[in-house]
Amino acid sequence: MGKEIKTIGVLTSGGDAPGMNAAIRAVVREALHNKCKVIGIQRGYKGLLNEEFHEMKSVDVAGIIHQGGTVLGTARCPEFREEEVQEKAAEICNKHSIDGIIVIGGDGSYRGAQALSRHGINTIGLPGTIDLDIACTEYTIGFDTAVNTAMEAIDKVKDTSSSHERCSIIEVMGRNAGYIALWCGIANGAENILIPERYDYDEQKIVDDIIANRRLGKKHHLIINAEGIGHSTSMARRIEAATGVETRATILGYMQRGGSPTCKDRYYASIMGAYAVDILTQGKTNRVVCYQNGQFMDMDIEEALSMTKAINEYEYQISENIC
Ligand code: ADP
Ligand code: F6P
Repeated sequence: MGKEIKTIGVLTSGGDAPGMNAAIRAVVREALHNKCKVIGIQRGYKGLLNEEFHEMKSVDVAGIIHQGGTVLGTARCPEFREEEVQEKAAEICNKHSIDGIIVIGGDGSYRGAQALSRHGINTIGLPGTIDLDIACTEYTIGFDTAVNTAMEAIDKVKDTSSSHERCSIIEVMGRNAGYIALWCGIANGAENILIPERYDYDEQKIVDDIIANRRLGKKHHLIINAEGIGHSTSMARRIEAATGVETRATILGYMQRGGSPTCKDRYYASIMGAYAVDILTQGKTNRVVCYQNGQFMDMDIEEALSMTKAINEYEYQISENIC
């Protein structure tokens, strides 16, 4: 096995996600339990390059498990794609005697971790994103909270939309992935669910659905539109013109990324954070922690990044059948 790990760095990178604090807390507490020192790195790879480091003790992560966001802050750092910048980051880690780094973020952040590992810094990635778009894992930190937040907000919009007998188009986050849209579409009882993985851009079908539902006496028509399709406002204008049914667009936006994490996000993020420390102290590097078939496990970053994720065809079919 590799070098002995005495000092562990932890950072959050990319979009924040509820549950990241639970993961940070578990990293700190499990590392201290394993007699390692922990260095919190502020603002992701940007903070690493600026040496924004502070030692984290047990008390520093007290009272954060229920908080949304990330106490370490996060940032995008495009220059981290450059070889010489990655080399400099590894030199900084060596200068501060940081033997290993736990990176909590999405697959972009994993590439940064992979680069650090190439330069001799042991790294472990944790899946932190509300989008659920990481192929190697069935669970990502933040998705459960985000999808519950979105579901509750959509229920509220649906109440007023039904009272006014309107059609509502509600746009949810997810970048290029349709998981939040699909889950909310089913959970909120939407009439149409538009996800980038499946949508054929045939708006006439939606128009026909609205007209048919009005004839059946339905007072509402809910369309969940994924961010990856977007253009909800112009879609609403066109649908209103074609159907004569008042149509409003609501873009839920960043509220989906905030808020106190659900029990599931706190629990899974805690286990994953501790797991990352355990494999790091065993000398593993260039690995990501994942959840597959009811088990927490780890996988080589290279292999994880080469995987592709597809929407479950059966589940998607059901979503169409029960609309
Ligand atoms: P996420 O981690 O949520 O997928 P991004 O794709 O924005 O979010 O990536 C977060 C950060 O990870 C980037 O700002 C950059 O610092 C780093 N990163 C992304 N892609 C690479 C890459 N190919 N090589 C090195 N670092 C990368
Ligand atoms: O990856 C999480 C996410 O919230 C996506 O759903 C969204 O596309 C993106 O981040 C927005 O990122 P930013 O904070 O840079 O606007």
